[in-house]
Formats: sequence, structure tokens, C-alpha cells
Amino acid sequence: MNKTFRIAPSILSANFATLGQEIKDVIASGTDIVHFDVMDNHYVPNLTIGPLVCEAIRPLTDAIIDVHLMVKPVDRIIPDFAKAGADIITFHPEGTEHIDRSLSLVRDLGCKSGLVFNPATPLDYLDYVMDKIDMVLLMSVNPGFGGQKFIPEMLKKLTEARKKIDAYTEKSGREIWLEIDGGVNPENIADIARAGADTFVAGSAIFKNSNDADPNRYDSIVKSLRDSLAAA
Ligand code: DX5
Ligand code: ZN
Repeated sequence: MNKTFRIAPSILSANFATLGQEIKDVIASGTDIVHFDVMDNHYVPNLTIGPLVCEAIRPLTDAIIDVHLMVKPVDRIIPDFAKAGADIITFHPEGTEHIDRSLSLVRDLGCKSGLVFNPATPLDYLDYVMDKIDMVLLMSVNPGFGGQKFIPEMLKKLTEARKKIDAYTEKSGREIWLEIDGGVNPENIADIARAGADTFVAGSAIFKNSNDADPNRYDSIVKSLRDSLAAA
């Protein structure tokens, strides 16, 4: 099979004191996307980073910056991330009163747009907005924290999402990425790929060696994720 698999390190688990170097090193180790988790202590019970940090890291890498908004409401903050250099902006249907409008807002600002589904949120939200979506992000943990365990029921949900996306792509000719977020590691990534994901967020699995001074400290974990994917 000739599938493209993308690995998206979640910088939530990186060392924030040396964030710029962390990003350079993790991308150099063979990852594709900077997954940028934005939490507001309202939609989720944690508080993280905002547009200023996105703007600061933008010049450091050519990699795609994938902004995952765990924020409510989303419309006020979307333009700030577009200005800060985000390539993809995703949000949860629960984070906006008007899903279609918020998706259009992201696109109008020149970014790729996506919807994020919590473990118990139904995929039905996709049905009338596929044309406005570039990425579907399935949460395989409840949002708010890194380092949680993958919820196995999400494999079935991935298969369902894959079916919807493939049917849409067949009809429209347009590709939509299917990203999984939460608890991904070298032991489960092959099963997750077989279930239909093409883009894999990994935070704690990758950054567990973030205190090391070795610039190649992420090579072996990224290689083991890639090796498992190759077996999928
Ligand atoms: C959780 C975040 C995830 C998280 C993933 O709310 O959206 O991106 O950082 O971390 P791990 O890979 O440790 O589950
Ligand atoms: Zn995330």
C-alpha cells in the first residue's frame, strides 16, 4: 500500500523553556506537522498557549502548523491564529454556535479547516459541511491533557470516519485528512493506521526524552513510529 502517513508531534508535551529548539529537533527527526494545542480553561480544564506563541515559532520551521482549538467560542480567536501563521485550524463542534460559519471563517482567512470530534461526539456533524472541511480530527482521549490512554472504541469510529471521507473523495475528487489525537504510541499506531487514520498526533510518546541535550534525541522514537506504520 502506498499511503502517505503524517506524524504530528503535539508540542503540549515539549519542554516550553526551549520550545523553538524542541520544534526544530522534532521536525528534523522526520516528523511532518507541528500540532499546536490551544486550551482555554473553559471549554477544557487546562490553559496552554495562544497566537503569540504560534507567531513566535512560525519563522522557525516550514512544517505545517496544525492549530487544535479547545476553546469556546472560537470565532474571536480564529483570525488571530490565521495572522500568526497557522496552516490548519480545527475546532470542536461544541465550541461554536454556528459550525458552518466558523468553518467558512477559517477558509476565508486562507487556512485549511477541520472539525474535531470528542470520543462521544457523533460524526453526523460532518454530513452537511464536507465541502468546507480539509481535515477530520478524532479525539482518542478526552481533550485537556497529554499522557492519557487511547480509548479502544475509537478504532471503530475511525473506520466509520474513513468510510465517510472515502465516499466523499470518490464523489468530489477532493482529499480530506483523517487525524487521530490522544494516546498514540509505537505499540498501537499500526492498528490505528489500519482503522483508517493517515495523520497521527503524538505528544507524550515523542517528548518523553525532552530533557536530553542530544539534538537527535527524537530520532529513535520517530523511527519506531515509522517502522510500526510501515507494518500497517
Ligand atoms: C489533548 C491534546 C493532545 C495531546 C496528545 O487534549 O489535544 O494533542 O497533547 O498527547 P498524548 O499523545 O500524550 O496523548
Ligand atoms: Zn490536540
